[in-house]
Amino acid sequence: MYTFRLNLKRISIWILLLAQIVLILSYFFSRVSPPVSKTNAKISFLKSIENVDEATATYHTLDTNIILKSVSTKNNFIDFNSSLCFKNGTDLISMKISKVNWKCNCLPGWHGNDCGQPEVLWRALIANKKPIKIKGPRTFERRLIYLFEVNKFSEHIADIRINELGSTVDLFILYEDPDSTYLLNKLNQKNTKAKFYISKRKENIYGKKVKTYLKNLRNDDVILSSNLNEIPNQDALTFLKFYDHWPQPIKFRFRWSVFGFFWLHPSRTIIGGGACTVSFLKEIFNNQLTLLTDNKTLSNPIYKGLMLGDLNHYGGWYCEYCNDPLQIVEFLASKPRNVINWDKVDKQKIDNSYIEDLIENGVYIDGKTQLVKAHKYRDNYFAPRFVNDHNWIYDFLLINLYSKLDYYEAFVNKQLSIVN
Ligand SMILES: *[C@@H]1O[C@H](CO)[C@@H](O)[C@H](O)[C@H]1NC(C)=O
Ligand SMILES: *[C@@H]1O[C@H](CO)[C@@H](O)[C@H](O)[C@H]1NC(C)=O
Ligand SMILES: *[C@@H]1O[C@H](CO)[C@@H](O)[C@H](O)[C@H]1NC(C)=O
Repeated sequence: MYTFRLNLKRISIWILLLAQIVLILSYFFSRVSPPVSKTNAKISFLKSIENVDEATATYHTLDTNIILKSVSTKNNFIDFNSSLCFKNGTDLISMKISKVNWKCNCLPGWHGNDCGQPEVLWRALIANKKPIKIKGPRTFERRLIYLFEVNKFSEHIADIRINELGSTVDLFILYEDPDSTYLLNKLNQKNTKAKFYISKRKENIYGKKVKTYLKNLRNDDVILSSNLNEIPNQDALTFLKFYDHWPQPIKFRFRWSVFGFFWLHPSRTIIGGGACTVSFLKEIFNNQLTLLTDNKTLSNPIYKGLMLGDLNHYGGWYCEYCNDPLQIVEFLASKPRNVINWDKVDKQKIDNSYIEDLIENGVYIDGKTQLVKAHKYRDNYFAPRFVNDHNWIYDFLLINLYSKLDYYEAFVNKQLSIVN
């Protein structure tokens, strides 16, 4: 019933859009050549693909040995004779034009002598009380291992994490509660290039499982873990792989989106963990992965570390309740204790249409906190890159489908982009 209603909404808006597009195109056709739409053939994700061949599956259960590759950093840098520049952070066009290059010309959002420091990292370094001497680039990348928990309520964000970070993370390790079969079922249907392993949650999955099967882990490899629904900033992670002497542990200040990227919690950010090297995890945290994301650790002043992100530049995204209303209701029914102050909310009231109302009007799950509207078209950090680039999959996270005003805005902007 619910899906039907939502589909009806979506279908009607798309029909409306199409009709308008046709109209506009016919009107402007003589003057404006329609833009060629870029179709990205790589992604075929949320749509289920039946009967994935076992041999082509890229995930494994965590009971076989894992070997990580060594990758040279060389291909990510260009030698301009007098200076070595990080390709993705450098304005290569302007550098190739000029004959003599004494220094790297950084693109907007990139800093440092070799343009290897993304905005959030550069800001973290200058905000630090003690000056930090970063060294690098290294000859070989550190390998990045990302461990995170999955459940059926965080399905969309898990998909986004894997796709957004798939080219940076060397190994994903996903785990879920022992009594859940969600992950296995889900991953069977996936066709992804990212390499990942899955496991049931163990008391100490890192110490007991990962250390056993990961055969060539190095002391300077990076272990990353973060809580449900957190998507760390990809450029910052790349930096950690390429450079030395950054303070540990790394913490993230995530942008706090609610129901989708179109609503922000009034607190705007939430602090979460965490990344550090294999040797730091062993020596300081005694291989307890949970300490890396634990609030007590993060707020403990003895672990100075480095915080990525401030109130305007984010270390990533935390997307809370980024689900269909029906799933939100189900989630609340399953975990009522620390989510809602039930003394203040009538339990009977929490149903599908109540949640739809909250989403439409931008009211937090507590029924009273007013959320802040985020503006897609003038906000560099509106949503992760992968989500923006695949708006036909994630329209429900980019547009407030329950608000007529948002429909309209999205629709007008779409037309403007067609006309221009
Ligand atoms: C690079 O530097 C060397 C030595 O300083 C010089 O001989 C050569 O011409 C330079 N090459 C370019 C492409 O600038
Ligand atoms: C450089 O940018 C490309 C295109 O956005 C991306 O696919 C690639 O992963 C980036 N490389 C690094 C090392 O961040
Ligand atoms: C985490 O710790 C900080 C500082 O001690 C505190 O303000 C915040 O409420 C805590 N967050 C959670 C989710 O417990």
